[in-house]
Amino acid sequence: MRRKIVAGNWKMNKNLEQGMNLIDEIIKLNSSENVLKIFATPFIHITSAVEKIKDKKDFAIAAQNCHHMESGAYTGEVSASMVRSSGTEYIIIGHSERRSYFNETTPLLVQKLNIALANDLIPIFCVGENLEDRNNNNHLEVIRQQLKDALYHLSPADFSKLIIAYEPIWAIGTGVTATTHQAQGMHNFIRSEINKKYGKEISENISILYGGSCNAENAKELFACLDVDGGLVGGASLKANDFTAIANSF
Ligand code: PGA
Repeated sequence: MRRKIVAGNWKMNKNLEQGMNLIDEIIKLNSSENVLKIFATPFIHITSAVEKIKDKKDFAIAAQNCHHMESGAYTGEVSASMVRSSGTEYIIIGHSERRSYFNETTPLLVQKLNIALANDLIPIFCVGENLEDRNNNNHLEVIRQQLKDALYHLSPADFSKLIIAYEPIWAIGTGVTATTHQAQGMHNFIRSEINKKYGKEISENISILYGGSCNAENAKELFACLDVDGGLVGGASLKANDFTAIANSF
């Protein structure tokens, strides 16, 4: 059985006090224990966030990034081993904002993936097409290529640790959500591609999250799709009630 997951990607929002208050509020609101809730916080919040959730099986912390080298003279950067040493278990890699604003190319993402896995972090790997690809009906091919180029060097054992997030770029932060037909279609496609490469057991057990303007109103119908195992949520993860409602939408 694959895990149901709702991950909040805080991006560059909330100071430390606001962030810790948000975690306190969400914990108080009581969401289903069957759903793993992940907070992807800014780096400086991470140790405090880990402390808040340390006795809770249904909560975890993610980093939003790490450097691609193990250590060294990289002023201002944070390594995968530092992230892991804080008690953080997950890491977002391949988010479209990092691909576009920080020029993260596929070879760089491969390095980040490898170093994250080597340090025992679980990557939440993001894929997604832009609007032009969608309008030109190229979206399946784009995602096929993103999966192949970034992930297919992994051994089955490493691949099976991943969480995949399908985030159509045109839906991120825009208020436009993929329809259930679009989301299910792509999630099913991703699962069948993984099946072709890694086989049925791995493809059936990998969690594939939807991201892109997922909110308290649309989460129920998205999560009802057979191949949608949860969400990677940006804007709506910054409000305790909304995030909890999303986590309770399965
Ligand atoms: P959004 O962001 O929910 O604000 O669209 C999702 C994401 O970027 O992960």
